[in-house]
Amino acid sequence: MLVILSNFLYNGVMEKFCIVTYGCQMNVHESEKLSGILLKMGLTETLKPTEADVIVFNTCCIRESAENKAKGNIGALKGYKKKNPNVIIAVGGCMPQQKGEAEKLIAKFPFIDIIFGTQNLFLFEKFLEERIKGKKHIIELEYNSPLPPENIEFNRDGKDNNAYVNITYGCNNFCTYCIVPYVRGRERSRKESDIINECKQILKEGRFKSITLLGQNVNSYGNDLNDGSNFSKLLKNVASLDGDFVVKFMTSHPKDLSDELIETIATTPKISHDIHLPCQSGSTKILEAMNRRYTREHYLEIVKKIRAKIKDANISTDLIVGFPGETEEDFNQTISLIKEVKFSQIFAFMYSKRKGTIAEKMDNQVPLLVKRKRVNEVLNLQKQILKEYKGD
Ligand code: SAH
Ligand code: SF4
Ligand code: F3S
Repeated sequence: MLVILSNFLYNGVMEKFCIVTYGCQMNVHESEKLSGILLKMGLTETLKPTEADVIVFNTCCIRESAENKAKGNIGALKGYKKKNPNVIIAVGGCMPQQKGEAEKLIAKFPFIDIIFGTQNLFLFEKFLEERIKGKKHIIELEYNSPLPPENIEFNRDGKDNNAYVNITYGCNNFCTYCIVPYVRGRERSRKESDIINECKQILKEGRFKSITLLGQNVNSYGNDLNDGSNFSKLLKNVASLDGDFVVKFMTSHPKDLSDELIETIATTPKISHDIHLPCQSGSTKILEAMNRRYTREHYLEIVKKIRAKIKDANISTDLIVGFPGETEEDFNQTISLIKEVKFSQIFAFMYSKRKGTIAEKMDNQVPLLVKRKRVNEVLNLQKQILKEYKGD
């Protein structure tokens, strides 16, 4: 099949592809996989959608704003597709994986050719082939297997000399605001030997100075494997590989951050001291409503432990303002937590209702203006803290 398709490509029908990526590092890394697939098929990459014969939107739906951005950019291609009907427009990633969303997308943008999901992007060549052969509106969202195959070549971007490596897929935590478990499925860990093999290959290339291990909650790595694997051991084993590099990781869920892990980071050379530890809120009441399964005190205790063992730890965080039921008092708790911890970086978000999540149905939603005011307050406070920190 590949041969026929390659001939087809050679005839000059499809020459260039463009991948537009939204969302987190998971998506960035999955776009590297897509890019690898398309390069192998003989296409070349362009950064301009309106130069491409195949345009892929790798989407995010973590907040409404992320969806609007993608939809705006898909809609903007209507004219291009009309003028160039042979151009193929594909939409993948988290957005179409929401219930009923693929059908809505096709209704709104009938010129979309292919819709695929978060777990089957490795089949993209097949989808493309089917579309070229005349099948209309391909919608393929089914998971083909719990884990993608191991033999796919990435076209690693190599930005900052970093290589991403997935260690887990999906999430089991069901934080009440979050869409991720619904669009990425349950948590599945890759086998440690597969991860180590990938890291070895990366290091063999010689162009990478860091490897970032990726998971929605890296700290629960291995829980589903029942073979004694855990994140701490994995980190140690990756760090023990030969070469001049640093091992980074994200994201750490505070509820699963063990003393063993802190010790490992503190005592193993080559493990990064940048720890991204999303707190989400400084109010125990809100944390409980978010189903985060730690309290403000527990969070602060972890920070203390990290700083006691790892003197130069850079702790960064994510937080959400305006979660349903967040009062001024709750918000002030977040402000005081920020002042106490002095994060190296904060990613602050206004709560955004996500369809199908538990928080969507909570009736004490916070007005947009209040959310805006709170997010600005957080960002201004953080600016001030960083200024003092840098001493200017
Ligand atoms: N797995 C990571 C987070 C992935 S999503 C973790 O648990 O830390 C990245 C960030 O987006 C989250 O940390 C949270 O701060 C934010 N986020 C998730 N859902 C959101 C929503 N509905 N509204 C606003 N921000 C949200
Ligand atoms: Fe979402 Fe929570 Fe899972 Fe992170 S841990 S992806 S915030 S459900
Ligand atoms: Fe967005 Fe999906 Fe990542 S919803 S934040 S791209 S896991």
